[in-house]
Amino acid sequence: MNRKFEYSNSKESIQKYESALKEYFNAKYCLAVSSGTAAITVALHACSIGSGDKVALSPVAPLCTAFPIIYSGAEINFFDIQTESLALDYNLIENNVVDAIIEVPMWGYPIDAIQSREFATKREIPLIFDLAHCAGTTFNDKPISNYCDIACFSTQKNKMFSTGEGGFLLTDNEELYHRAKLFSTMGELDGVNFGVNFKLSPFLAEIGIANLKQLNNSIQRRIINRNFIISNINNNNIVEHANTINGQPSYQRLLFRTKNFKPGLSEWLDKHETTNG
Ligand SMILES: Cc1ncc(COP(=O)(O)O)c(C=O)c1O
Repeated sequence: MNRKFEYSNSKESIQKYESALKEYFNAKYCLAVSSGTAAITVALHACSIGSGDKVALSPVAPLCTAFPIIYSGAEINFFDIQTESLALDYNLIENNVVDAIIEVPMWGYPIDAIQSREFATKREIPLIFDLAHCAGTTFNDKPISNYCDIACFSTQKNKMFSTGEGGFLLTDNEELYHRAKLFSTMGELDGVNFGVNFKLSPFLAEIGIANLKQLNNSIQRRIINRNFIISNINNNNIVEHANTINGQPSYQRLLFRTKNFKPGLSEWLDKHETTNG
């Protein structure tokens, strides 16, 4: 690194990382933050979601998505997912009041993002995607983040690329970006705006710059591994989770469905994994 490195408040490392992320995900604005949980907390604040609001969420979403909603003061309204997809079932939401939607395409499997986009646009409510597992997931050949108002990512160690701990937000909306930035940088201490400190460390930004370069290779390796595993499973009770048409999973995890659940199936899978790798 020939550049002068600042331990804290380094605009250079952070901006370089944010520029790389904007380019990779084809987004207008990017904000690096300290975690995926911070990203969701900031996104809700930027969208002015708080006390008295209802946020639609699927019961498949993990606690890490639910906690920032609770912290914001908003209420979580759980709606079931679609049969063949992990997306919310919009027929179930149709007759309900909701003030925001958070979709969580779990384990990197894409959802029909156009359907979510159309629903949120029709209702004029913010659409947030928790894409903690989805760096590399595409829908209609575009990063799935392109379809929502704010996309939240985690770069904690189990994610598609890592900074150890960390996260970032992407948006094409200038106003949302500025609100998010002010909130996560203590209102830039301007004496007017409120905020907290959710900044990413410049050390981690440098790790992110290096590791983002490996993301495409990692996705390719995951696709090869997925194909190998699928072609070696010859148990009719086990099928891969149905992929959304025109979607490409990141394969953060390989997800199976059991057609006829039988006691002993998980033991069979464990044994298969031990003996066949
Ligand atoms: C779907 C999902 N959302 C949010 C988070 C929270 O991310 P972080 O651990 O970086 O706060 C995680 C982390 O595991 C996650 O899996």
